[in-house]
Amino acid sequence: MTSFPAEAPKDCDLCPRLRGFILEQEVKQPDWFNGAVPSFGDQNAELLVIGLAPGLTGANRTGRPFTGDWAGDLLYQTLGKFDFVEGTYDRRPDDGMTLKRAMITNAVRCVPPQNKPIGAEINQCRPFLRSRIEQLPKLKVMLCLGKISHDSTMRTLGLKLSEHKFGHGTEYAFEGMTILSSYHCSRYNTNTRRLTEEMFETIFARAKALIDA
Ligand code: URA
Repeated sequence: MTSFPAEAPKDCDLCPRLRGFILEQEVKQPDWFNGAVPSFGDQNAELLVIGLAPGLTGANRTGRPFTGDWAGDLLYQTLGKFDFVEGTYDRRPDDGMTLKRAMITNAVRCVPPQNKPIGAEINQCRPFLRSRIEQLPKLKVMLCLGKISHDSTMRTLGLKLSEHKFGHGTEYAFEGMTILSSYHCSRYNTNTRRLTEEMFETIFARAKALIDA
């Protein structure tokens, strides 16, 4: 077990560009969360959903992953369909909703400009992802949303990217667990129908089947 924390401090300053961006938001939007967003969910999670990074007006505003933006509407709706949600998601962190058997985290914990973290930031944040994974004793399935999440998760686990390429619906084994990947549930991907609700549900159905097996 590593001693590195699974969650970054809210005022994490390991990435100067991201810290600077958050400080700019703090001036513009003092009522927003504006910090490294902690993972959310069940400490006994069997499913870990790994997103990219907090959205500016979603998780960076509300302080809960995927909460308050389009990507979250689809993610929480789908988690609900597969019985990972207790209560009702209502786009705010005090909606009383909890996750069961599931947790949501992000490969990068601070909001990046234009939703695009640079390589150095993804690398800098990776120890938090590694600890997050290590500190889930019942974990069975990791579900990566998008290529950045997929690649960072593979690097975290020491798996070669050349042999573990990202694709929608890819599935790789690791120490008795399974790593699934999906196109990110962003508004762009759903608007262009690169990802449909049905495609997303098929991935969750597979995750659920693996967990219940
Ligand atoms: N919100 C998050 O927390 N992560 C994402 O990847 C997208 C939106």
